[in-house]
Amino acid sequence: MIDLRSDTVTLPTPEMREAMYQAFVGDDVFGDDPTINNLEERVAEILGKEAAVYMPSGTMTNQVAIRTHTEPGDEILLEQSAHVYFNEAGATAALSGAICRLIPGDRGVFGAEDMEAAIRPVNDHYPRTKLVCVENTANRGGGKVWPLEKLAEVKKTAHENGLKIHLDGARIWNAAAAMNIPESEIAKHFDSVSVCFSKGLGAPVGSALAGSSDFIMEARRFRKQFGGGMRQAGIIAAGALYALENNRERLTVDHDNAKIFAKGLAEINGIEINPDDVETNIINFRMQGMTTDELIENLNKQGTHVLPKDSITIRAVTNLMVSESQINIALDHVRNAMNS
Ligand SMILES: Cc1ncc(COP(=O)(O)O)c(C=O)c1O
Repeated sequence: MIDLRSDTVTLPTPEMREAMYQAFVGDDVFGDDPTINNLEERVAEILGKEAAVYMPSGTMTNQVAIRTHTEPGDEILLEQSAHVYFNEAGATAALSGAICRLIPGDRGVFGAEDMEAAIRPVNDHYPRTKLVCVENTANRGGGKVWPLEKLAEVKKTAHENGLKIHLDGARIWNAAAAMNIPESEIAKHFDSVSVCFSKGLGAPVGSALAGSSDFIMEARRFRKQFGGGMRQAGIIAAGALYALENNRERLTVDHDNAKIFAKGLAEINGIEINPDDVETNIINFRMQGMTTDELIENLNKQGTHVLPKDSITIRAVTNLMVSESQINIALDHVRNAMNS
């Protein structure tokens, strides 16, 4: 099976499982889990932040960040295709009572002017704009990487207007690898940063939220309120720690495989894709003469698995379970499907 449905499908390797088996654990709600403490310190260090807190999922780290930055009735700004808005089951409204205001963008990236135009003036009739969220890489934008100058402009404009700025950095690792810079160069533009270990890094579970010590202390309270306090979770955090130390550098392999896949797709009659759009591990493409459902069903039968992004677009994601030779086989499968 060639599984290109997502980078979340990765399974722990024997080495990662061994690290998990050997992990020292304790009650993390009491602060007693040494593996989680190590992981949180290491994440804070890598991102250049004062502190970090481990949580079960990227949805929880994003939503705890939003709850920590806002009060019910406040408004947050985010790009129209943001995961926080699209894929987190309305949690911002349900758990924080905050309103989302969407900013138009290009493949997940927006400009400081468009953001500034969406900030509410002070007026009793309006919600208070409190927070702007950025997603890097932009998932629905096809793994697009934010240029650093744009991040700097958005941060400056946010802070000048009294807003906090949060990064959904589920794939900050891919952005940093693609730009060949340390993650802290991206994280420095944000008041809070959410990162995931269970995507391209290949750990089975978990995410972390990083920021100032005061912010993280408050976030720990909301983690508890949202039901995310865990006990001897060092068992899973050990997988995350292993992934952090061993699987960041190899992300360029996934990026190279994504480019091979995109270039190969571009040569297949009926497939529409611009290979230059593929900067990291996510490939979005469309096709003529076949629906997404038909192509997916055909590919499934041949042993390649992808998912629809929407009714006319397919999304494929390279990951550590898929080798270059499997990418070439997957291309054969697409070719067969388009010729059938
Ligand atoms: C950009 C982005 N943010 C957040 C998440 C949420 O992560 P989780 O599935 O761990 O809740 C995802 C998951 O795919 C994601 O792609």
